[in-house]
Amino acid sequence: MAVIALKCPSIEVVVVDISTTRISAWNNDQLPIYEPGLDDVVKQCRGRNLFFSSVVEKHIFEADIIFVSVNTPTKTRGLGADKVADLTYWESAARTIADVAKSDKIMVKKSIVPVKCAEAIEKILKHNSKGINFEILSNPEFLAEGTTSNDLFNPDRVLLGGRETPEGQKAVQVLKDVYVHWVPVDRIITTNLWSAELSKLAANAFLAQRISSVNSMSALCEATSADVTEVAYAVGRDSRIGPRFLNASVGFGGSCFQKDILNLVYICECNGLPEVAHYWKQVIKANDYQKSMFVNRFVSSMFNTVLGKKIAVLGFAFKKDTGDTRETPTIDVCEGLLGDKAAIYDHQVTEDQIQRDLAMNKFDWDHPIHLQPMSPTAVKKQVTVTWDAYEATKGAHGVCILTEWDEFKVLDYKRIYDNMEKPTFVFDGRNIVDAEKLRKIGFIVYSIGKPLDAWLKDMPAVA
Ligand code: UDX
Repeated sequence: MAVIALKCPSIEVVVVDISTTRISAWNNDQLPIYEPGLDDVVKQCRGRNLFFSSVVEKHIFEADIIFVSVNTPTKTRGLGADKVADLTYWESAARTIADVAKSDKIMVKKSIVPVKCAEAIEKILKHNSKGINFEILSNPEFLAEGTTSNDLFNPDRVLLGGRETPEGQKAVQVLKDVYVHWVPVDRIITTNLWSAELSKLAANAFLAQRISSVNSMSALCEATSADVTEVAYAVGRDSRIGPRFLNASVGFGGSCFQKDILNLVYICECNGLPEVAHYWKQVIKANDYQKSMFVNRFVSSMFNTVLGKKIAVLGFAFKKDTGDTRETPTIDVCEGLLGDKAAIYDHQVTEDQIQRDLAMNKFDWDHPIHLQPMSPTAVKKQVTVTWDAYEATKGAHGVCILTEWDEFKVLDYKRIYDNMEKPTFVFDGRNIVDAEKLRKIGFIVYSIGKPLDAWLKDMPAVA
């Protein structure tokens, strides 16, 4: 919304939320999320044509176009639990809009919601419309965290889905006119509503599939002494495949990949396509396998036990350049390792957030409970959160690098080695350190999908 405000000075953009705390955070000097470049964009337009307000109904009443970006958590109970999106918040937003609106509106779905959600929303609006015309469009967002500015200023494509009726097409044109302020026309794709919704799920599933594919190769590389970086490079040079998204890692995280694939799986099952559902489920299973193999390797290399040992975890966010911890692989790795003490360091994630994430059940992050104060008993006593990588590693037996922050590439590893217990391990879950350099210092190094140190060969991980 901030980018729309920046690029379209003639349009007034008001971001509303029922949470006054959240809105006041957006009106503050210190923005509530860390995202490179965002500060600058918000500060250029805030108060000019970008406003943050909790007076929801007034702004719904005044708006011509309403972007609905409410949360669509994964259901944790009832039909479709752990698979399907819960549309409670969407439904409630649609009902509020139907109650308040006195003029025709274009409603744009930004939230990631399952295919055909628009149909359900349309029914609510139609039955409560009092003669007002609501035109629903789907405009899925493809930006990735950490690179938001570039993704929004120079998008590969903008996708607009609408009904194939004259009113639907007119609404698509209105939204297209907003984007043409800065996006070249040939990058604006218009489709029917269902194609737009499915494209978003499909794009995320394809991206996640690439990571699971390269990660599955990493296991085979370790077994055969091939190097996954070399394999990925050779494979990616095929112009039909391309080089991006082929970095082997401890596993993918983030709020989208797993959730969208689970939605896709559920939709396939509901449509009588169990084989297709099974195919996509494997992408998540491969990701879970990757995380558990990382833990197994770590534990088996330490004489099959981490009890009584201190482990330093560098990085908690699900990737660099974000403070976001949703579905971060670090949570699963920590849970696997927390036989005893761990010191965690990530300069963008607060202690409260880390403790909360480690105490949460799967998918709780997606529900409002995530925002509530934590009960003291939920805190993992064996975890210390530090604000310094050297502090985290002091006296530790092993280091796990779980987020690819640039700072971890340039740490003084000699100093770290000198202050750690011996034998000393580095488990690089992102392949960012110079393993040879570290070996010369004295570390036993594990890098994903690379030929194994003799130590690790002698102590194979148990699947
Ligand atoms: C993703 C999609 O990229 C974006 O288009 C969509 O709108 C939202 O979901 P995001 O979750 O922000 O974006 O991050 P992304 O860069 O896709 O990374 C997801 C996860 O995959 C991260 O944990 C990242 O570290 C991991 N990853 C990515 C790899 O392990 N290897 C890679 O080669 C690329």
